Amino acid sequence: MLLAIADVLSQDELTTARRLLAGARWVDGRVTAGHQSARAKDNQQLAEDDPAARQLGAMIVSALERSALFVSAALPLKVFPPLFNRYEGGQSFGTHVDNAIRQVPGTPHRVRTDLSATLFLAAPEEYDGGELVVEDTYGLHEVKLPAGHLILYPASSLHHVKPVTRGARLASFFWIQSMVRDDGERTLLFDLDLAIQGVNRELPDKPLAVQLTGVYHNLLRRWADA
Ligand code: NI
Repeated sequence: MLLAIADVLSQDELTTARRLLAGARWVDGRVTAGHQSARAKDNQQLAEDDPAARQLGAMIVSALERSALFVSAALPLKVFPPLFNRYEGGQSFGTHVDNAIRQVPGTPHRVRTDLSATLFLAAPEEYDGGELVVEDTYGLHEVKLPAGHLILYPASSLHHVKPVTRGARLASFFWIQSMVRDDGERTLLFDLDLAIQGVNRELPDKPLAVQLTGVYHNLLRRWADA
């Protein structure tokens, strides 16, 4: 499932993010790349222990918790502390796949990367290029969203970022370990949840909605690890 979620960050949060990122310390993005992706990666990244990264990361995680669409689609169990990157002057990230398991720095915790997320922090008008291109069985999907919007996609997908030929592309990126590991099962639950919301709207107070909600929870109980 490839899903865009609008307005994850408010305008105030975006302003805070941009202010903190402008004064932050950027390093070579290869610091967090795996062996295979290091060769493809050419960008800048905020040092993980930078106070700005921690503050903004916490802000993003609480914004995600407020997003009913994110929770329904990702069924998050763990969210990797958000990272931040910047591409400019022709920088790009060639085709790669994200590591399956990531250690949370400075902790014994690991996150299985079921879903990848990119939260755009620069407006599309601020830069040329920089599309995130995700490959799936339906082909290539180019994604370039307004600032504050998020794209969620299976971390198993091959993907790349096209060269940024003007301006700077700023984004946060991170991974989610879902309660439901399998993308197909998770997508079914998401579709069912949307259908139940539709039934609740169109047929309020009918036993059908309760019955369907029961099916949803029974599938979730069968498929989820909590
Ligand atoms: Ni990646």
